[in-house]
Amino acid sequence: MKIAILGTGMVGQTVATALAAKGHEIIVGTRDPVKSKAAAEPNKYGMPGFGTWHQANQGIRVGTFAEAAAFGEVVFNASNGGTTLETLGLAGRDNLAAKVLVDLSNDLDFSKGMPPTLAVRDEAGAGLGERIQAAFPNVRVVKALSTMSAFVMVNPAIVAGGESTVFLSGDDAAAKTVVHGILQSLGWTDILDLGGIATSRGVEMLLPIWLSLFGVLGQKPYNFKVVR
Ligand SMILES: NC(=O)c1ccc[n+]([C@@H]2O[C@H](COP(=O)([O-])OP(=O)(O)OC[C@H]3O[C@@H](n4cnc5c(N)ncnc54)[C@H](OP(=O)(O)O)[C@@H]3O)[C@@H](O)[C@H]2O)c1
Repeated sequence: MKIAILGTGMVGQTVATALAAKGHEIIVGTRDPVKSKAAAEPNKYGMPGFGTWHQANQGIRVGTFAEAAAFGEVVFNASNGGTTLETLGLAGRDNLAAKVLVDLSNDLDFSKGMPPTLAVRDEAGAGLGERIQAAFPNVRVVKALSTMSAFVMVNPAIVAGGESTVFLSGDDAAAKTVVHGILQSLGWTDILDLGGIATSRGVEMLLPIWLSLFGVLGQKPYNFKVVR
């Protein structure tokens, strides 16, 4: 499958590497491909700069957000949550039209330092997934994987203690089937479809507890599991 990853951070790098290893044709989108490919500085999580990552992954194409969105049959949104609508605007309405957009992003406010606070309010339409769907009505938005670290997203088996849960939210049933298949290929078995994109607001609101867990557990892989 042709897959576009919009985002050059830890999530974009990790998801791109994993999906390329599954045999997909990948392009990573960024505002400035030349600048991103030259970036050697480690990011805020200590991950290699995008340029260093790309040196080790030269089979993966890099393009502008628009080039990536035009190429991808499925598009992953791995961009900064606070500026996601700008990223998708650069990707281009026509390039995204009718495509499955897997939204991994979280709308967090880092302006007062770490840990960030949640920018999402619990009001109908105020979630980030909901705002993306409203701004791009002909894009088939599916929220998934936003409630865990990038390493767990692509390798659920690294969480000790058995299978954990990944949530799916989206208005388009066929789009969710596509994402379900990709998740299964990454090793997910407990894939819990919560319903329409409005349900992604509650999923996004799990982030404060996820951040508290990070404070306690640090780099040790962990995830939510719904026992039923
Ligand atoms: N880190 C995790 O483990 C984790 C886990 C779950 C969910 N998430 C979510 O996944 C997303 C990606 O996280 P991340 O840490 O990998 O990367 P990030 O630093 O949050 O975002 C990096 C991307 O955002 C783009 N960007 C930043 N400002 C922009 C602007 N003004 N206009 C357009 N694009 C802009 C950057 O473009 P350039 O390439 O041009 O610089 C870059 O591609 C976030 O929404 C995050 O909340 C992260």
